[in-house]
Amino acid sequence: MSSLLVDNIGELVTNSYGSGEGGPLGIRRDAALLVEDGVVAWVGPARDAPAADRRIDAAGAAVLPGFVDSHAHLVFAGDRAAEFAARMAGEPYTGGGIRTTVGATRAASDEQLRATVRRLRAEAMRQGTTTIEIKSGYGLTVADEARSLRIAAEFTEDTTFLGAHVVPAEYADRPDDYVGMVCGPMLAAAAPYARWIDVFCERGAFDVDHARAILACGQAVGLGVRVHANQLGPGPGVQLGVELGAASVDHCTHLSDADIDALAAAETVAALLPGAEFSTRSPYPDARRLLDAGVTVALATDCNPGSSYTSSMPFCIALAVREMRMTPAEAVWAATAGGAAALRRTDVGRLAPGTRADLMILDAPSHLHLAYRPGVPLIRQVLHNGVPQ
Ligand code: NIG
Ligand code: FE
Repeated sequence: MSSLLVDNIGELVTNSYGSGEGGPLGIRRDAALLVEDGVVAWVGPARDAPAADRRIDAAGAAVLPGFVDSHAHLVFAGDRAAEFAARMAGEPYTGGGIRTTVGATRAASDEQLRATVRRLRAEAMRQGTTTIEIKSGYGLTVADEARSLRIAAEFTEDTTFLGAHVVPAEYADRPDDYVGMVCGPMLAAAAPYARWIDVFCERGAFDVDHARAILACGQAVGLGVRVHANQLGPGPGVQLGVELGAASVDHCTHLSDADIDALAAAETVAALLPGAEFSTRSPYPDARRLLDAGVTVALATDCNPGSSYTSSMPFCIALAVREMRMTPAEAVWAATAGGAAALRRTDVGRLAPGTRADLMILDAPSHLHLAYRPGVPLIRQVLHNGVPQ
């Protein structure tokens, strides 16, 4: 058994130990943390730290659980920088560009797709993300969805089948047939590589009946449910997610009072994706309204080449604090423990004996600096399963 002591921690965010300093962040000062075989074995005052084979001196800095990014679309080819430039010049975002990425993804080799996922996964890790969900959704044929998920599964346990991202061009005039194909051969080919199923339930993508049918098929073969909901306008996606016991409903930009009430009464997490509002120049979701109603909120990147080409959780935290009325503590919790709740994971998103030793040491004395110093690379070191990256 090999042991590693992270010592001399000025501020340790645990997301555990009740609601001490920092509310749910469970902050401990002048702390140390012992890792054994990739798992947290002990947390306590630095003066009581046990001996270990190796030691990392945090030099008084802040240490946080690694970020849990519960929503990312990393399996794609090409980019849509020109579409972004057109939006910044006034064009609206409609989701129509998804088909551009579908064409490029189908034309790419396995190795090209794998290289993109590897690059983005490494980019996210350097910014503190130790757990990431990865969706398919730019293949939209049986073979291309299955290979997207096969490649995604090389990089994460949290893979999501998003065959219902949009209706591809070749099915444009027969969406019922496409839904039948998603529920039939596509799901059969995708399910062995997937933990979750997701649908883009939105005007221009899938209506509520199609979305319900697809999600129910996924549930029937054991996949957990997540929904892209209420991104571009009000709609039934959030309530459909609650009805089906979804782990999360994602985007939640346009919510009615009834949507908020439904979420407040359910386990379903509201995953907010402010990178998408930033990159589509859209109004941000109102996190304060959700939090004040008692809804569990997660923050995620939505990393994809169309609506949010960022892998940076610190950027999302800064946006959430500045634009969505979250406190820095709420935003940090949402990016760690909130993401874990959205993925129904209890082994990540917090630091206590038995959790994975996934953590980051900041180049800063406090978690506050993640929002206070936007755009600055503040992640000094990342440990994933106890291993320095
Ligand atoms: O989550 N909303 C649907 N899917 C992605 C966007 C995909 C794209 O534009 O390529 C999203 O924002
Ligand atoms: Fe998305």
